Amino acid sequence: MKTHMILNGKKIDIAPLSEGDLEAVLPIEKASYPHPWTLVHFKDELQNPVADLVGCKIDDILAGYLCYWLIAGELQILNVAVAPEFRGCGIANRLLDHVFASCHTKGLVSAWLEVRVGNRAAIALYRRFGFSDGGVRRNYYRDGEDALLMVRDFAED
Ligand SMILES: CC(C)(COP(=O)(O)OP(=O)(O)OC[C@H]1O[C@@H](n2cnc3c(N)ncnc32)[C@H](O)[C@@H]1OP(=O)(O)O)[C@@H](O)C(=O)NCCC(=O)NCCS
Repeated sequence: MKTHMILNGKKIDIAPLSEGDLEAVLPIEKASYPHPWTLVHFKDELQNPVADLVGCKIDDILAGYLCYWLIAGELQILNVAVAPEFRGCGIANRLLDHVFASCHTKGLVSAWLEVRVGNRAAIALYRRFGFSDGGVRRNYYRDGEDALLMVRDFAED
């Protein structure tokens, strides 16, 4: 699935990424996480039949991406990141809208993800999309921070 729109004279495209896009993905990844995914990690996901790596380009420049798995109607969001210079402009909102719309056509039943308990921006983003708290995984991250499990059940919609 692809989404194309013109907003304030700018071309916005949301579509699956390929290996040729990874050069643009890596700097965003490094700017977004203390323990970023590597090139190998992204290449593995591009080969993974249950994974999708979707990017949002503004005038052909990669602004953000989202990697997820969809298995038997269960969506797991693994990674969503937006380049610092594009944050706060609705890119993550558009990526999630796109992914949910795409997964709905494939029988989406539920969604879940893990997020650092201190990541207020991401937690606010997921709550905005109807996720609720599903528990805490203690010392989940390498530096000892807890993970908040967030869940959304689409069967109730
Ligand atoms: C979290 C992240 C993906 C949000 O991307 P973004 O494109 O800036 O988000 P948007 O502009 O689409 O905002 C969507 C919603 O997220 C929340 N949000 C985004 N930035 C926020 C901030 N700084 N503080 C609080 N809430 C914030 C708001 O609920 C916002 O909705 P609103 O605009 O209606 O208020 C981005 O900050 C990022 O890449 N962070 C680093 C990587 C990361 O933490 N990823 C999540 C891992 S689980």
